[in-house]
Amino acid sequence: MAELTGEERLVEFERRIDRGEKVEPGDWMPEDYRRNLIRMISQHAHSEIVGQLPEGKWIPYAPGFRRKLTLIAKVQDEAGHGQLLYRAAETLGKTREEMIDELLSGKAKYANVFNYPTPTWADVGVIGWLVDTAAVINQTMLAQSSYGPYARAMKRICYEESFHIKQGYDSIVTLAKGTAAQRSMAQDAVNRWWYPTLMMSGPPDAMSVHSQQALRWRIKTKSNEQVRQEFVDHIVPQIRALGISVPDQECRLDGTTGHYRYSPPDWEELKRVISGDGPCNKERLEVRRKAHEEGRWVREALQAHQTRKAV
Ligand code: COA
Repeated sequence: MAELTGEERLVEFERRIDRGEKVEPGDWMPEDYRRNLIRMISQHAHSEIVGQLPEGKWIPYAPGFRRKLTLIAKVQDEAGHGQLLYRAAETLGKTREEMIDELLSGKAKYANVFNYPTPTWADVGVIGWLVDTAAVINQTMLAQSSYGPYARAMKRICYEESFHIKQGYDSIVTLAKGTAAQRSMAQDAVNRWWYPTLMMSGPPDAMSVHSQQALRWRIKTKSNEQVRQEFVDHIVPQIRALGISVPDQECRLDGTTGHYRYSPPDWEELKRVISGDGPCNKERLEVRRKAHEEGRWVREALQAHQTRKAV
């Protein structure tokens, strides 16, 4: 059979995508598809790894044994998600070492939200509840991604993230039903996390660089704005049911569309934070660099063991 031309391969590839087939690691794929996926999956993996830090700092201070156990389990889950995602990105031809070097050198991006501080215990609850709800809405969509290893990793991750939401929600319910000081702590955390969480779904569609191509090839199946709107529609009634206010005077249900309106976040702030200039970017990378150095002996021991096995 005659070899397909580049253009014919692209047509065939897009037909497969339109039929809803999954693309697997050994399959032919356009270089832009591969590049877009490596970019997105590696950033996602970094987010899971750095995402351990804002909450991890609260493990020694968690109020009580049960809360401490749940938080430890949650933070460990995030480390596991990072491993799964690095593995998925490796199937596309980039090594884990390259990806980690890019994170530690500050070249790689990771989710904006993990560059904000967690000064109170309520921040832990709000990350689990708001941030993980936004993550699950996005990742349930990504579980339909055309790239098989990414879609499969998302299914597992979504199960665990759904538990994280319960963990965060349970903490906030306790605070919301507690003393005036506890209620005010929960409100203050919601005030601080609202806009960073809205930013998490990415810039508006008109400003998004990669969405058009990602949607065409079903790397993602919904636009940034669709995902953000789903989050707002889902979370606003929950926040209000707990007697907490949404820190946006404009946030109200639009009877015509059936969706909540909301004021847009400051997109300049998103740009600054993801370019390395957020409140905690430097601190986060320093902690990761230190952890990487402290783990060097483990990597070297594994390498030595593998070399010995090979001879
Ligand atoms: N945090 C950090 N970077 C972000 C971001 C955010 N909330 N939103 C957008 N960006 C970055 C993009 O990565 C991209 O950077 P790059 O060109 O250097 O790679 C740039 O801003 C432009 O955004 P856009 O063109 O809209 O990127 P996108 O189509 O990849 O959409 C996401 C952005 C975050 C919605 C998308 O990458 C995604 O769904 N990622 C997987 C989920 C994930 O990483 N979750 C992390 C939390 S668990």
